[in-house]
Amino acid sequence: MRVLFASSEVFPLVKTGGLADVSGALPAALAESGIDVRVLMPGYPEAMERTEAKRHVGSFGDPLAVGGEAKLVSGKLPGSGVPVWLLDCPALYDRPGGPYQATAGHDHPDNHLRFGLLSWAAAQLAVDGSPVKWRPQLLHGNDWQTGLAPAYLHAWSPAERPATVFTIHNIAYQGQFPPDAVPRLGLPAAMYQMDGLEYYDHLSFLKAGLFYSDRLTTVSPRYAREIQSAPHGCGIEGLLTERAADLVGIVNGADYSVWDPAADSHLVRPYRAADVAEGKAANKAALQAELGLAKDPDAPLMVVVSRLNDLKGMDMVLAVLPVLLREGAQLAVVGTGDRVMEDAFRSAAATHPDRISASIAYSETLAHRLMAGGDMLLMPSRFEPCGLTQFYAFRYGTVPVAHATGGLADTVVDASYDSLMTGTATGFSFEHANAGAFQWALERALGVYRNREQWRRIQATCLAQNFSWERSAARYVELYRSLVAPAPGKARRRA
Ligand code: ADP
Ligand code: GLC
Repeated sequence: MRVLFASSEVFPLVKTGGLADVSGALPAALAESGIDVRVLMPGYPEAMERTEAKRHVGSFGDPLAVGGEAKLVSGKLPGSGVPVWLLDCPALYDRPGGPYQATAGHDHPDNHLRFGLLSWAAAQLAVDGSPVKWRPQLLHGNDWQTGLAPAYLHAWSPAERPATVFTIHNIAYQGQFPPDAVPRLGLPAAMYQMDGLEYYDHLSFLKAGLFYSDRLTTVSPRYAREIQSAPHGCGIEGLLTERAADLVGIVNGADYSVWDPAADSHLVRPYRAADVAEGKAANKAALQAELGLAKDPDAPLMVVVSRLNDLKGMDMVLAVLPVLLREGAQLAVVGTGDRVMEDAFRSAAATHPDRISASIAYSETLAHRLMAGGDMLLMPSRFEPCGLTQFYAFRYGTVPVAHATGGLADTVVDASYDSLMTGTATGFSFEHANAGAFQWALERALGVYRNREQWRRIQATCLAQNFSWERSAARYVELYRSLVAPAPGKARRRA
């Protein structure tokens, strides 16, 4: 089966968060399952630079009149070798800044065009008139940046169109633009209505994806339920409830070729489950030295690898700092995000340099070192569609302390009396997103940490978890097959 997988970020070409991890690893797992998958993404300069075996394969012209041609460049993803198509349009993508923002806090002013074109190209590649011969039978879009693709297919009404699947990685980001973006993007005015593109007097890319796609998925079963009501539905709960029969939650996987403590070049001392105690001790000592924390092998080291904002519950981490200090714990943070939050962590670290470290940066190396050297990973997210760092923590024998929401609720087993007895506990979780409940979970975690025997048991259960992509990819393949008959050839006829 031929599948076009469209995404705005793909690891290791460009990454701001979990979407990139998924967009790098899921297509590789799909390819392993025999799917003929190609990834489509914008040709940001660093993505162009890192793509292997690049060649120009066609041109789209300038369909949205952005002032420059959009070319299609094919290549391979480093590592997996999965075929990737870069939408090479320098007028939109060749500029400083990240995929979404020019500078921290300021979106690119033409994001409707940047991601309108991405969506347009995804749709165009799937129908007659595509600049290349390869035609997907199924188009899989991800998040708002690709939400207009099924809307274009609807607007064009081609004789044959691919089946469409749309995955919500985070419903809080919706891609909303003023109504004049509708004609600007070449979409018919008639589609700008409640049963269509309109969302509270704005064009919503996300709603377009949710309204016009054949099937919807999100990244955990719990989140699939949560977004069907307020507040998690972020205003789209009505549409999602109507489409509940078409919505499925499939938990993400972890890319164990990237996150493997036994073969991790970022670590001073790689380790396996068999020598986890020695391995973690060596990495913890190295981390304490690197970050200027007190060299204390017995101090529980809590780590945060996260965007720093309220949605991730980082205000709750700040609120429990006095408790952590009182309990003799250390905290190491690597993250970027809201300015106020960044400053608050910086200032806490400046006040307690031997106990708190705040690396306000994006650093793959530190992310890996924190997973290896840390004892507990803090994830008090107010909501978390899936979350990936808890999977990495499991693999590195680091125990998550997490709010029981979304994917965290589905994947972290709280250390209750029962789960401790049966050896199924993999972390500490709390039901209500407030600092008091978080503190209670932390105090429980610290209590168990001091009981080395019990801690080692939890760690062993974490290390035994298997969240490989294979299983999740099988669920996607099953979904694809329910939409596209296995017989080779024909794309779906227009519904
Ligand atoms: P989200 O996508 O909502 O940010 P996820 O847990 O799904 O949350 O994915 C976050 C990804 O981004 C993980 O791979 C994590 O290691 C990475 N990450 C987040 N912040 C940083 C940072 N400051 N430096 C390096 N990696 C980071
Ligand atoms: C989003 C979510 C996160 C999820 C990731 C990948 O960024 O916030 O929970 O793991 O997408 O699906």
